[in-house]
Amino acid sequence: MDLFFSDSLPVSRSEKEKRLNQKARAIWMTGLSGSGKSTLGLGLEKELSTRGFLVQLLDGDLVRTGINNNLSFSVQDRQENIRRIAEVSKLFIHCGIITIDCFISPTNEIRTLARDIIGKDDFIEVYMNASLESCELRDAKGLYAKARRGEIRDFTGIGSPFDPPEHPDLELNNSELTIEKTIEKALHFILPKIQISER
Ligand code: ADX
Repeated sequence: MDLFFSDSLPVSRSEKEKRLNQKARAIWMTGLSGSGKSTLGLGLEKELSTRGFLVQLLDGDLVRTGINNNLSFSVQDRQENIRRIAEVSKLFIHCGIITIDCFISPTNEIRTLARDIIGKDDFIEVYMNASLESCELRDAKGLYAKARRGEIRDFTGIGSPFDPPEHPDLELNNSELTIEKTIEKALHFILPKIQISER
């Protein structure tokens, strides 16, 4: 076997995308804790995988037990959390892989940081618009109750702000739609942005 390392160019992103038959993008989901980001992210990952796309899901709860396990929920640490995730997403994208990023990413400044790192053409902002009341009512993880009792500091929506995005690419509200319909709507919006050819 002949090897030609010396004069070889780096393998380009577009070559990798062509091989995977997809355009790599970061599908960035923002919204309150309990707004349905992870449920939608999981559903979307499944649907896209079924259609042959290569997708990596990155989720706040998981990432914060691994690469970001040294970060708190102060404004500065949330910023560092998002900076690292955006850099990781960028690496995936340059490998041709689609990421689904499920992070509260609570402020315009933080989301701008992510968009700037990833690049605006590769960044699809999806806002899971669920009211604080509805998230608190469901309180699947019991964290809102803990925050109200003062057992968790800086909880988003209670002790720490959430600024709704001003111009999300897509806004979804799972109190108006079933999860199946929400996934369907997201798929309909995202597919044309990641397809190279019909599958
Ligand atoms: S972000 O603000 O830095 O983007 P991230 O999405 O990584 O947050 O993590 C949010 C998850 O961490 C929540 O869904 C919740 O399960 C958990 N969590 C624990 N403490 C807090 C807190 N103080 N504020 C928000 N979420 C918290």
